[in-house]
Amino acid sequence: MPRFDGTAEYNALKKHQAKPNFSRRAVKTPHLYYDYSRQLIDDTTVALLLRLAEASGLRAKIKAMFSGEKINVTEGRAAWHVALRDPDNQPEVKEVLAKIKKFSAQNKFNNIVAIGIGGSYLGPEYLAEACAPYALPGKKLLFVANVDGTDFARKTAGLDPKDTLVIIISKTFTTAETMKNAETAKVWLQRAPGSGPAVVREQMIAVSTAEDKVKAFGIDPANMFPFWDWVGGRYSATSAVGAVPLALYLGYDNFEQILKGASWLDDHFLRAPFAGNLPVLSALLDIWNINFMGYKTRALLPYFQSLGKLPAHTQQVEMESNGKLVDIEGQPVSFDTGEVVFGEPGTNGQHSFYQLIHQGTQIIPCDFIGFIKPQYPLGESSPASVTHHEELMTNFFAQPDALAFGKKDDYLPKNFPGNRPSSSLLLKELTPFTAGLLLAWTEHRAAAKGFIWGINSFDQFGVELGKKLGVEQRNRILEYHKTGKINTEGLNRSTATLLQAFLKGELPT
Ligand code: F6P
Repeated sequence: MPRFDGTAEYNALKKHQAKPNFSRRAVKTPHLYYDYSRQLIDDTTVALLLRLAEASGLRAKIKAMFSGEKINVTEGRAAWHVALRDPDNQPEVKEVLAKIKKFSAQNKFNNIVAIGIGGSYLGPEYLAEACAPYALPGKKLLFVANVDGTDFARKTAGLDPKDTLVIIISKTFTTAETMKNAETAKVWLQRAPGSGPAVVREQMIAVSTAEDKVKAFGIDPANMFPFWDWVGGRYSATSAVGAVPLALYLGYDNFEQILKGASWLDDHFLRAPFAGNLPVLSALLDIWNINFMGYKTRALLPYFQSLGKLPAHTQQVEMESNGKLVDIEGQPVSFDTGEVVFGEPGTNGQHSFYQLIHQGTQIIPCDFIGFIKPQYPLGESSPASVTHHEELMTNFFAQPDALAFGKKDDYLPKNFPGNRPSSSLLLKELTPFTAGLLLAWTEHRAAAKGFIWGINSFDQFGVELGKKLGVEQRNRILEYHKTGKINTEGLNRSTATLLQAFLKGELPT
């Protein structure tokens, strides 16, 4: 396969000067309407981008992912998260889901504490927030991710340990932060007044691929819900990683709706022609903005409070997947891969960082997401008054136009230059189904970019070095506990000074 920047299509796009005309361009499906009229493109740009996709072998790569081929070549694994949404054809998936269904139906605990980090946290938390109005009566789901004790302390403050089920979610069951929080949770349960010797067996469960480690921790393997090495961490929200906490919190049927929504988008990604394919088109527009326009940051702006955690999840999916220096053959790439993603729900962001988006010197392509219906209908709709949701949506309509068309003012501080690209995704309502659909869009958009760039979006060696150096520092702290001496051998002066100050409890003078 030719390299991304070695194709005639790439060269044609490099030479191409788009004349944006903001004419109506949209993907229409029964579940969503994606308007990309305000991107800085014209018909030729779209045609060239579609040819770029074909030239990259995107079609075959998507098929390879769906058929479970080992496309994660550096780790020798498949990236087969779509199989999680197709239980009727995957007996092992079906079996685990049946176990989760039964377990969640029998659950008597009102509080669920889910301990995990990264992919074992962000996707499930996004889904839980998005689907909160569907929660079973009386159920509370709390996520503990950070090893900073504040997270555990604040989430468990006021919780009755006797009415709490703790789920340890970790693919490897070795992640330092998760294991520290798991130990703390164990002690929290064991020290609760009236707790008996069976408390860990009865109130701690696990989601993992590492049964031996779960057992060694003291969790009954009967209370372990497995997944498989062909599910990558950041792509695992529809495995037991999300299924267990979400079925306990929302009820199994609602979790099944999340699977159905993701499965609908999977099918769309696999079958829709590229010109009307949401993940493919959005990935191509990202590539246009990153590689040809030089816009390397993207803002994700859901005009919906319950999507408050979507930017954080998207950040992991995009930046852990596509922040790569080498291509799939291990050769250095000479073009930008990945983009910086950030975001906040509207309208909060408008009163924070939008100034830079409207008038800053950098161009930041924006993705707006809005819904026809609110989850919480508040306020009066009358000739004299708009509802909360109507007020919210006025901004969803206004901001993309302000960015695209601007407003000329001879007084430059008040001049809005316009020509700032954005897309607007409109859906009917946020339900478990559409939350699952948005999850799969996020996954496939990142993967489609990786396929077109010719990189491996499914490994993450970049996070290893920091982890390894962290272990070395932990050993130094343990040595200090043992000997009272601070060992700074082999450390640079900067780190040595910081470590000494920390262990001595005083700022350097
Ligand atoms: O941050 C690195 C990472 O490996 C992520 O890719 C992963 O989602 C996270 O750590 C948690 O890993 P685990 O599920 O094994 O605890």
